[in-house]
Amino acid sequence: MSTPHIEAAVGAIADTVLLPGDPLRARFIAQEFLDAPEQVTARRNMLGFTGRWQGRAITVMGGGMGIASTAIYATELARVYGVRRMIRVGTCGGLGEVALGDILLAQSGSTDSRFNRMQFGDHDLAACADFTLLRGAVDVAAALEVETRVAHVFSTDCFYDGAPGLHEHLRRHRICGIEMETAGLYGLAMREGVQALAILAVSDHLDRHEQMSAAERERGLAQVARLALTVCASN
Ligand code: HPA
Repeated sequence: MSTPHIEAAVGAIADTVLLPGDPLRARFIAQEFLDAPEQVTARRNMLGFTGRWQGRAITVMGGGMGIASTAIYATELARVYGVRRMIRVGTCGGLGEVALGDILLAQSGSTDSRFNRMQFGDHDLAACADFTLLRGAVDVAAALEVETRVAHVFSTDCFYDGAPGLHEHLRRHRICGIEMETAGLYGLAMREGVQALAILAVSDHLDRHEQMSAAERERGLAQVARLALTVCASN
């Protein structure tokens, strides 16, 4: 059986999935880190690969950009493929005192999306990381001597022309990362009863108008992927 958006057979996807946004990043992570990676899905070119890391089966699959796209894949992974852990590996914009290349472990995801409200009686959901995964990531980062920050992030639906004053609100609430997926993934994971965490490298700084080069982005992503895989292997 497959789903409308994933063509893998049930059983071809591991219970733990790394979710970068970009399917080519999924291929990069699979080729760079996994033993014997096999492509298990390519519907709409949203590539997914299953292989092994330190003996444990892991799938890495693109989730696309934004909550709408990520939620389609995450829902089908949880409901049809029995996935129990999802770690978003990606990049974010930084605000305030974070620096380019910092790695954020997203404790919470606030958002301007209505995605969680639509399923939570129009109330505000506190969309949070799974504590076991978050604690695991903190411990693994310390063991690997990788500096990380446990941080609040904001997932926006508008990459361009977002709400006026948004960045000021974010700074005021000590939110230091902005991207487009985490709050939706966390809300969905809470409803589906699965574990989720987002590990994000700061790829551009919105106050300082700085950006990582393509090579720095790749290095940042590799560092995030290694951290996520080690968390999976040790939990
Ligand atoms: N906004 C939204 N998503 C992002 C950004 C940003 O500034 N940087 C990286 N992902």
